[in-house]
Amino acid sequence: MSTAISPTAYNYKVVRQFAIMTVVWGILGMGLGVFIASQLVWPELNFGLPWTSFGRLRPLHTNLVIFAFGGCALFATSYYVVQRTCQTRLISDSLAAFTFWGWQAVIVGAIITLPLGYTTTKEYAELEWPLAILLAIVWVTYGLVFFGTITKRNTKHIYVGNWFYGAFIVVTAMLHIVNHASLPVSFFKSYSAYSGATDAMIQWWYGHNAVGFFLTTGFLGMMYYFVPKQAERPIYSYRLSIVHFWALITLYIWAGPHHLHYTALPDWAQSLGMAMSIILLAPSWGGMINGMMTLSGAWHKLRTDPILRFLVVSLAFYGMSTFEGPMMAIKTVNSLSHYTDWTIGHVHAGALGWVAMISIGAIYHMIPKLFGRAQMHSIGLINAHFWLATIGTVLYIASMWVNGITQGLMWRAINDDGTLTYSFVEALQASHPGFIVRALGGAFFASGMLFMAYNVWRTVRASNPVEAKAAEQIAVVGAH
Ligand code: HEM
Ligand code: HEM
Repeated sequence: MSTAISPTAYNYKVVRQFAIMTVVWGILGMGLGVFIASQLVWPELNFGLPWTSFGRLRPLHTNLVIFAFGGCALFATSYYVVQRTCQTRLISDSLAAFTFWGWQAVIVGAIITLPLGYTTTKEYAELEWPLAILLAIVWVTYGLVFFGTITKRNTKHIYVGNWFYGAFIVVTAMLHIVNHASLPVSFFKSYSAYSGATDAMIQWWYGHNAVGFFLTTGFLGMMYYFVPKQAERPIYSYRLSIVHFWALITLYIWAGPHHLHYTALPDWAQSLGMAMSIILLAPSWGGMINGMMTLSGAWHKLRTDPILRFLVVSLAFYGMSTFEGPMMAIKTVNSLSHYTDWTIGHVHAGALGWVAMISIGAIYHMIPKLFGRAQMHSIGLINAHFWLATIGTVLYIASMWVNGITQGLMWRAINDDGTLTYSFVEALQASHPGFIVRALGGAFFASGMLFMAYNVWRTVRASNPVEAKAAEQIAVVGAH
């Protein structure tokens, strides 16, 4: 058997690198999540130091889980899917390698600068201008590699998963570049080019679409490839997937104002955001149903296949969070939920239940194929991971619902004479048990990631490079 890689073989090296880093950043980002959750239970864990304070570590958590963990999962799967569905190698190995090292550099930059307190103060866009520029360069290169590969495809159609990945890449570039427009005053400090309500609107146009395109559309691309693959069934409805795509990308972009209810933003803009958010339920559920129904005739596989379970349960949480979101966008509901832990619970229903679960399922699907093994080292460990992740997510969300509604009701309770019934500290005390349950749920979820790391390590260690190279060639011949 020849060990030379044919020039037409897929570039799995960069996919392997991003896949492994997904696990590494997942452990660090979620481990940090457990730490900041614990700080809310035991404030002594702030250690009285600025660098380790909740205020500085919280944005590091969000950057690590969204951009490092989620981002690496999106890079890994999109490079894998685009090659296999276009039956061609990535257009440039060196540009792909640049995206890997450039992305890791941005993350390391975040790990250094955020605890030191360098921040633009815009949520999910905290990185100061030198890192933001590097990120923009890496992202445009990513677009070149992805779309370049699509142009040299050996298939007639562009598989629907690639439409979702493509939209995620284009819109993320647009959001990042527009929202980061700023005036640098030193190497570590810049001021936004926008001011007042305009600044807030642009920030939440960015923020909401970071959710819509980074945390949703990209992962839907993943869903459209890995669910049918793992279930060994074609996607339920190709027609629905096209309607899903156009409806989702047309509607998402309008919903940002629901983050700015009852603010200085003009009232009509708030109402428009609310209406668009409610309509957004339809395409979101269309997509979820399309994924779920793909299992028609294959439901029995759930009994034996924990990878499929990860993928299906992620869709269930996607359905749940995209039902909850439109409800929270209704102004009267938002007047209760805003500023409370309900929002945090909603975030993690999406983040843990949807984003992390589907990524974990996809990585378990890919690792054996990337390293020339028949399957993961231990299916039992994947199963254990599945239960830790599911129980962890439920503990997290349920405790935050209880906390959120308790806080919302306590803050608005008023005595007959118009004074507040409860002080802020009383509401905080009432939240303490919920904080403990959340930290416990997070610890469940994060410990599942350690099982994953061990399982991946054993699978990779036992891989045979010759076999792996041969597998790359077979993959070219046998691409679907
Ligand atoms: C072990 C798992 C995790 C734990 C224990 C955890 C914990 C936390 C905590 C304690 C906060 C701050 C809440 C507050 O300010 O009151 C937070 C915020 C946040 N986390 Fe996590 N997290 C975890 C995983 C994730 C993952 C995987 C993602 C994304 C993919 C994520 C995304 C976020 C976001 C976006 C926020 C900010 C929410 C907001 O501002 O409304 N987290 N997390
Ligand atoms: C139809 C879909 C969705 C709608 C209409 C929606 C709506 C909302 C609303 C109304 C809020 C609260 C805003 C506030 O009071 O400040 C919110 C917060 C949030 N949602 Fe969603 N949501 C949806 C799906 C999702 C999904 C799937 C995810 C995650 C993967 C997600 C992540 C977030 C995050 C991170 C925040 C917190 C933003 C912040 O304040 O930092 N959402 N969403």
